[in-house]
Amino acid sequence: IKIAVIHGPNLNMLGIRDPDIYGKDNFDSVNQKIEAHAKSLGLEITIQQSNSEGAIIDFVQEAMSWADAIVINPGAYTHYSYAIRDAIGDSRLPTIEVHLTNVHAREEFRRNSVISPVSTGQIVGFGTNSYLLALTAAKRLVEESHR
Ligand code: DQA
Repeated sequence: IKIAVIHGPNLNMLGIRDPDIYGKDNFDSVNQKIEAHAKSLGLEITIQQSNSEGAIIDFVQEAMSWADAIVINPGAYTHYSYAIRDAIGDSRLPTIEVHLTNVHAREEFRRNSVISPVSTGQIVGFGTNSYLLALTAAKRLVEESHR
């Protein structure tokens, strides 16, 4: 099972950007935990990050040719990028939307996701573990779709 893990804008600054909100794990250690969990689940993954909307759309389009599912934290683009939403919808790949923080417990603008209508589901509020839970969910989703 192959999964494309995509990080959106400012996530490369994890560990530096407000650790009280986003946790102390830096970007490399988050990715190491993702890699280790993927390995334990027997998943093949790639991890990509961009601060640019267009590059994130390219990652989604490229995933169509090889991935079974997408795990994506679109960062602030979550709240307004119809272009990323269209790319995910058009890809027809099962997609799990991830947020480190509980977006429902923060500013009002973070409550709305334009990505969630094209996502299979969302995992929010568990810090780094949100990504790990999403990998577990993605694996189940793909396995169950082949049954
Ligand atoms: C985030 C939540 C977004 O509102 C914010 O803009 C981010 C990170 C999260 O993982 O909690 O950059 O996606």
